[in-house]
Amino acid sequence: MSAMISETQQRSLLEAAQKVSERAYAPFSKFFVGAAILTSDGKVYVGCNVENSSFGMTNCAERTAIFTAIADGAGEGKLDITAVAVVNRDGVPCAPCGACRQVIYEFGPQAVVIYRSSQGEIAQTPITDLLPEGFRLE
Ligand code: THU
Repeated sequence: MSAMISETQQRSLLEAAQKVSERAYAPFSKFFVGAAILTSDGKVYVGCNVENSSFGMTNCAERTAIFTAIADGAGEGKLDITAVAVVNRDGVPCAPCGACRQVIYEFGPQAVVIYRSSQGEIAQTPITDLLPEGFRLE
């Protein structure tokens, strides 16, 4: 079961995501994204999307944040994600893409994801609602 995070934690994750969205490299789509993840040991890692002239090489903000945490040795090799916030720099709705949902699930099967939905509201949604029956090799 996913546990919701506090209003204060939500605000600070959204602020971190907003700040890093300014660093996004998105000259092709002009869709600038920032993400911040909260780990179960209270650390925050951020990431932005990084595009490429060869479009398929693009890396989303959420995966940049998660891969950065892994490279940092987060959780001493056992990264456990409690929450992920994702924002578009310009405040438009930005739900995580399917690939990122699977990557979030790998390290946070109980994580909540915070984003502005197509209805315009920011809410906390369990990753398992966004990705029912996420794939696991075990
Ligand atoms: N993008 C993200 O970074 N995260 C998402 O969840 C949705 C899409 C990026 C990828 C690409 O650089 C741009 O947004 C447009 O698809």
